[in-house]
Amino acid sequence: MNYQHRSEAFSFFRAWVKDPWRVAAISPSGPALANLMTSGISADTGPVIELGPGTGAFTRALLERGVRQSDLALVEFGSEFATALHHRYPRVRTLWMDAARLHTVRLFDGRPAGAVVSGLPLLSMPARKVAAILNSSFRKMDPGGSFYQFTYGMGCPVPRRILDHLGLQAVRTGGTLSNLPPASVYRIQRKPTPFSQSRPDTETL
Ligand SMILES: C[S@@+](CC[C@H](N)C(=O)[O-])C[C@H]1O[C@@H](n2cnc3c(N)ncnc32)[C@H](O)[C@@H]1O
Repeated sequence: MNYQHRSEAFSFFRAWVKDPWRVAAISPSGPALANLMTSGISADTGPVIELGPGTGAFTRALLERGVRQSDLALVEFGSEFATALHHRYPRVRTLWMDAARLHTVRLFDGRPAGAVVSGLPLLSMPARKVAAILNSSFRKMDPGGSFYQFTYGMGCPVPRRILDHLGLQAVRTGGTLSNLPPASVYRIQRKPTPFSQSRPDTETL
């Protein structure tokens, strides 16, 4: 572990001591989980929104995958994390706010995002809040956009009734035992509408 990672681990632990419900983990995600969370993302994804970046474990991986700083927005509720990320990545838009209010902010000159990467502790949030975060996020994405979420739990951290209510579906894209604790990643997308499933061939119209 180099100096930068040690210092991030220390800041993370200090934030957890101050507010364990918000931070919900005692150390930042490791490189294996960061790799899995960002494996579906490239420079071609277009704008990307990261929710709950903390000390920036996924932020670093997103930039390494070619996402431009100007195509990345970080949404972080902890002022200690938001301030540090703003100083480290001055060309990335860092928003110090609750992710559930994301729909109130104009991002990327109005262009929709191609993906949302979430490190939020959904399992420790009330269902209403989880629904508000997903609703807000999907309002910011193009129709084919993907919401990536990790969990230390056994199943998808978004309850089925919320997915159904919002017209979403989730698939587990993988898991890693190399993270502490081991984690799984889910990709959540809009369910295809009946129209998009059986779109008629325009030449036969
Ligand atoms: C489990 S930590 C994950 C940090 C980082 N993504 C990682 O994997 O190392 C959860 C992060 O979500 C942030 N957070 C919690 N509730 C939030 C909310 N409502 N809106 C935005 N960020 C929030 C916390 O401050 C913390 O940075």
